Amino acid sequence: MLKSNVYITRMIPQETIDALRQFHDVEVNPYDRALTRDELLQQVRGRDAVITLLTDKVDGEVLDAAGPQCKIFANYAVGFNNFDLKAATQRGVIMTNTPGVLDDATATHAWALLLATARRISESERYVRAGQWHGWAPMAFIGQDVDHKTLGIAGLGRIGSKFARKAAAFDMKVIYTNAVREPEFERQYGATFVDKATLLRESDFLSLHLPLLPDTHHYIGAKELASMKPTAVLINAARGPLIDEQALVAALRNKVIWGAGLDVFEEEPNIAAGLAELDNVVIVPHIASATIQTRLAMGKIATDNVISVLKGEPPHTCINPEVLK
Ligand code: DGY
Repeated sequence: MLKSNVYITRMIPQETIDALRQFHDVEVNPYDRALTRDELLQQVRGRDAVITLLTDKVDGEVLDAAGPQCKIFANYAVGFNNFDLKAATQRGVIMTNTPGVLDDATATHAWALLLATARRISESERYVRAGQWHGWAPMAFIGQDVDHKTLGIAGLGRIGSKFARKAAAFDMKVIYTNAVREPEFERQYGATFVDKATLLRESDFLSLHLPLLPDTHHYIGAKELASMKPTAVLINAARGPLIDEQALVAALRNKVIWGAGLDVFEEEPNIAAGLAELDNVVIVPHIASATIQTRLAMGKIATDNVISVLKGEPPHTCINPEVLK
């Protein structure tokens, strides 16, 4: 097999790059930062395959800059709202993602956010670190019970259903909305399918596990927040634009809801003005899949897809399958 020319837009686990280097010439962005748009356009030029991040917008312009020899753009993420699938299919370029290997890590992280928000972990840790703790206090950092409460889940895909399963540990009542009803899941986990209005009204904890699409943009805005319980906690480890972040800042400030745990933001890496000043929100930098094992598995899927396509074989996780016909 002739060696091809592969570009990776940012460092991913070294083992996966080494595996790719056994077959191909591989160049990796040497900087510890995402490429600028100009750099991306420049670096993809003449490559046979490119491994990208969710921060790289891959549209017609980037595909054209890469050139007609380029066969695959492999996203190092399960989400692919940064990819223009139609533009790729039109140009005969295969696009892939990394499904399946990050479901548990992401669902567990959503739980970490939920528990940290309910039990005010970040806020109380800041207090201890600042030297403000002067002894046990009966009324300090009072949080919300999690056990036996109602857990709402928007989106029962791979990650949403993993998240739901973990609720059994807390004896929670599970309600969910989804594009389709999942009777087997309902039977197994005692979950109830509800409409969005019921989900908002009845959830003590509401976790979002939806893809970012035109009709899920601002799935939660001021109106939705106003219909939630004042004791409710909102969790988002999916995509930032599912929530109108400014409306959320106002709702948290005015105690319309009790708290929020956020892994993702509308304009990453920027966060809405006022969010960081609020104590009733836990904010972390899009790290839901950031475990050693998961990132390795993501790197393996991305590089395996590139190896297969450059060998003339179909990739394992194609997201524009029409291109293969
Ligand atoms: C994804 O894969 O889409 C996550 O957001 C990052 O791992």
